[in-house]
Amino acid sequence: MSLEPSQALPRAATQLRVNGTVHPISLDRDRSLLYVLREELGLTGTKYGCGEGECGACKVLIDGVAVRSCVTPVGEVVGRSITTIEGLAEGDRLHPVQQAFIDEGAFQCGFCTPGMILASVSLLARNPRPSEGEIRAAMDGNLCRCGGYLRIFQAIRRAAQLPEKVDGGAP
Ligand code: FES
Ligand code: FES
Repeated sequence: MSLEPSQALPRAATQLRVNGTVHPISLDRDRSLLYVLREELGLTGTKYGCGEGECGACKVLIDGVAVRSCVTPVGEVVGRSITTIEGLAEGDRLHPVQQAFIDEGAFQCGFCTPGMILASVSLLARNPRPSEGEIRAAMDGNLCRCGGYLRIFQAIRRAAQLPEKVDGGAP
């Protein structure tokens, strides 16, 4: 026997800490974190790309580590610290990775940029001076439909204060 909508069990209320602010939300474990961020909290800087964990456009930081919010059930991140692109700057001061992306012109349409920046922040937090291979490995799950990888990788090198890649080779 299935329940009619009006008979369904009430959703438990809970809280989500996003960008340092606690938000009340209803807890439906089937909802993705991406859905809650965009549709309930209005944080549309986090992008919906593939919805299947393949493109990285939806990445946010959970306790400082980049995760794909489209495949993260919201119930798994209650009590954790969530950072979206809207929470990265401190007042008027951009995060160094944001500034590096601007300085290198590392975007065209900008759709992939929030996910790229948060993946970069996550990488540099655990590995402040990554090797070329470590940058490639960390960014492997982030796709740019505009093909802006060269500038994106230069921006990461700039943020890490690594020398520019002289040959400008493909990432
Ligand atoms: S929208 Fe989440 S990985 Fe593509
Ligand atoms: S800048 Fe357009 S998808 Fe990356």
